[in-house]
Amino acid sequence: MTEDKNFVVAIDGPAGSGKSTVAKLIAKKLKLLYIDTGAMYRALTFAALSNNVNPLDNSSVTKLAKKCRIELEDTPAGLRVSLNSIDVTCEIRSPKVNSHVSDVAKIKEVREIMVKEQRRLASGKGVVLEGRDIGTVVFPDARYKFYLDASVNERAKRRVKEMPGAKPNDVKANVLLRDKIDSSREIGPLKKAQDAVYVDTTDMTIEEVVDTILKKINVTRCT
Ligand code: DC
Repeated sequence: MTEDKNFVVAIDGPAGSGKSTVAKLIAKKLKLLYIDTGAMYRALTFAALSNNVNPLDNSSVTKLAKKCRIELEDTPAGLRVSLNSIDVTCEIRSPKVNSHVSDVAKIKEVREIMVKEQRRLASGKGVVLEGRDIGTVVFPDARYKFYLDASVNERAKRRVKEMPGAKPNDVKANVLLRDKIDSSREIGPLKKAQDAVYVDTTDMTIEEVVDTILKKINVTRCT
C-alpha cells in the first residue's frame, strides 16, 4: 500500500476522541507514514514557553514558528518529536503545553506555516494524518476521511489515564476549553468535513474503532 502515493487517510476529532491511538494503528497496519499534526502545534507551544514568548503574542509566535525546525520520527518505540534537533517528545505533553497549545494553534500565520509543512511531509507518500483540520483544510481531497468523537466525560477519563496524578476536574476543564477554542477559531476550526465518516467512539474499544475504519477503507476501495 505504501506504493500508492496518493493514499491519504485523514483522521480528525477533539482531544481524547481516540484518534492518536487509532491513527497509529491504522498506519502500522497499512504500512503508511503516520503524521501527528497536534504534536507540531505542541512543539511550537513548547518552544514559545521555553523562550519566554507569550503564546498570545501572534507576531512573536509567528516569528518563532519561522525559525523552528520541528521533526517527527516514527520509531518502533513510538513517535519521537524533536525541536531544533532536541528531543521534546515528553515535554510537549505537559499540562503547561496543554493549557496554551490552543492559543498558539489559533494564530492564522502559524496555521499557514504548519499546513504547508504537513503537506510537504506527506508529499508523494501514503500517509495517515491526524488533527483537527486534515479533512477540511490540509487534505480536502483525501481519499478517506474520518471524524472521531466521544462524550466529554469519556474523553476526559481517557486523558486522565494518560496523565497519572492529574486531577480529573482540571483535565475535563482543559478538554472543554480546548474544544471551545479549537472549534470556534476562524482558521481551520475543528470541524467534521462534510464527506468524513463520523465515528462515535464513546462505547467502543480501540480495536472496534480500528476495525470500523479498516472496513470502510476496504469497502470504499472495492467500489
Ligand atoms: O491532538 P492534540 O491534542 O495533540 O492537539 C493539540 C492541539 O493542537 C489542539 O488543542 C488543537 C491543535 N491542533 C490544531 O489546531 N490543528 C491540528 N491539525 C492539530 C492540532
